[in-house]
Amino acid sequence: MAAKPGVRPHDAVRHPLFARFYARLSILNDERGGVGSLRDELLAGLSGRVIEIGAGNGLNFARYPETVGEVVAVEPERHMRQLAAEAALRARVPVDVLAGTAEALPVADASFDAAVVSLVLCSLGDVPRALSELRRVLRPGGELRFFEHGVADGRPGMAAAQRLVDKTVWPLLFGGCHTGRDPLGGIAQAGFTDPDFRRVRIPERGPALPHSFHVLGRARSL
Ligand SMILES: C[S@@+](CC[C@H](N)C(=O)[O-])C[C@H]1O[C@@H](n2cnc3c(N)ncnc32)[C@H](O)[C@@H]1O
Repeated sequence: MAAKPGVRPHDAVRHPLFARFYARLSILNDERGGVGSLRDELLAGLSGRVIEIGAGNGLNFARYPETVGEVVAVEPERHMRQLAAEAALRARVPVDVLAGTAEALPVADASFDAAVVSLVLCSLGDVPRALSELRRVLRPGGELRFFEHGVADGRPGMAAAQRLVDKTVWPLLFGGCHTGRDPLGGIAQAGFTDPDFRRVRIPERGPALPHSFHVLGRARSL
């Protein structure tokens, strides 16, 4: 429904302070923390029409290979979306930034060759619904690329700390982020198959943090 003139439409996700904080921190992480090259790995070899959900300030956009025909990027947070629209202008491929949420994607069934989620499943209101939306909009055989942080597998002490921070301060401080979710489990439960991934710790050295435990890979939608 179109908004009345002069009336700001309701924002599905609103984290104005976090959006400004993330816009700065994410650039530092990309440039000095090695995250930029992980984004390159995430996107390598993609082609055709791609949907990216929770695109944030659009740090993936300039890294899409030229074999991609079009990116549709969905971002609900107003400030992030503005930054994403600016980043879209610097991309080598056409990027269309849309308002919307991952749980109700404003796009047609089976209309994409690939979907990209990076550092976003941690922040969604309803992960199963969002992943089922991605299956709806991917064509049969379409690919999901993921770069996500989650539960510290095999480290019970850290996993307990993750549960504690998730129940208390972490989502409040970091735009709804949760550290202890299970991205691989969620992807499998949603019906994606043939997962191929590697685990990445960020930062690579030094003490681990609750959000240090990443997975980077791909799976298929049949
Ligand atoms: C930590 S940021 C990651 C941004 C970006 N994907 C990246 O790789 O840097 C998480 C993003 O998810 C967005 N988000 C939160 N809830 C969402 C939802 N329900 N649907 C889509 N995006 C959402 C936030 O607004 C934010 O831009």
